Amino acid sequence: MSVAPHAGNGKVTVPDILSRKFPVSKSQSQAPRKITCLTAYDYPTARLLDEAGVDILLVGDSLGMVVLGYENTLPVTLEEMLHHTRAVRRGTRRALVVADMPYGSYHAEMAESVRNAVRFVKEAGAEAVKVEGGERRLELIARLVEAEIPVMGHVGLTPQSLHAMGGFKVQGKTPEAAEQLLRDARAVEAAGAFSIVLESVPRELATRITAELRIPTIGIGAGPDCDGQVLVIHDLLGFSLGHTPKFARRYANLAETISQAAREYCDDVQNGRFPSDAESYRVPTGSRESAPARTI
Ligand code: KIV
Repeated sequence: MSVAPHAGNGKVTVPDILSRKFPVSKSQSQAPRKITCLTAYDYPTARLLDEAGVDILLVGDSLGMVVLGYENTLPVTLEEMLHHTRAVRRGTRRALVVADMPYGSYHAEMAESVRNAVRFVKEAGAEAVKVEGGERRLELIARLVEAEIPVMGHVGLTPQSLHAMGGFKVQGKTPEAAEQLLRDARAVEAAGAFSIVLESVPRELATRITAELRIPTIGIGAGPDCDGQVLVIHDLLGFSLGHTPKFARRYANLAETISQAAREYCDDVQNGRFPSDAESYRVPTGSRESAPARTI
């Protein structure tokens, strides 16, 4: 496992993310720089996103749906998350690596939850963990922070509460639900989280939460006024095979690029166009006569 580089030289750290909310800016008129976050699950993607300057790489448990082919995030295991976090760690030099704690890894005993979070830091090189839930996670977040593990909160549409929510639905649409969401966000901040994801909430509510909290909000389907934005990388690349939510802007069509490349490859092989002579090894000139007879 490679080790996270020390702060400095542009390395993004937890204090950097916190300070992006209230920068000590040279010019008062300068708006704080938005935080960029994308999910990553493997080494090459992490390297490319890191080199492109993304601030936070989130090893999201969306892994289960976009990479492992599960129907939802609930079956994702701790070992799967650790495995992919290690790969992302190896590909990352500058960005902050945050790992999602999967469903079941922080829902039983407190001591076990802390031990599981410690594994992400100790064995996989994560610099922070993310947990879903608001007021219900107050004690857990405080315990993790006490154990020196920075925590990113996550409220609104929390996919691990799929069954309790009755589906993937926009949250906080009624005045009562909005008040509860506000209480949840406040609880996450009070417990000591360094940032909070707001997923699928009306933009007016996200704006209100962003204005009230002192920690940065990172929105996904929460409008443009959050302190940062996060997307699932497969959605951004046009590489998700299931439903893509309306908030996910597609910047490429990787699914079509891959399908087209695979079709062309099959066609070339079947029609004798691949491999060409230039793509083949040759016996060195001069030793052709002594080349062993080809056996079939
Ligand atoms: O699992 C995930 O990718 C997430 C983001 C969508 C915030 O939780």
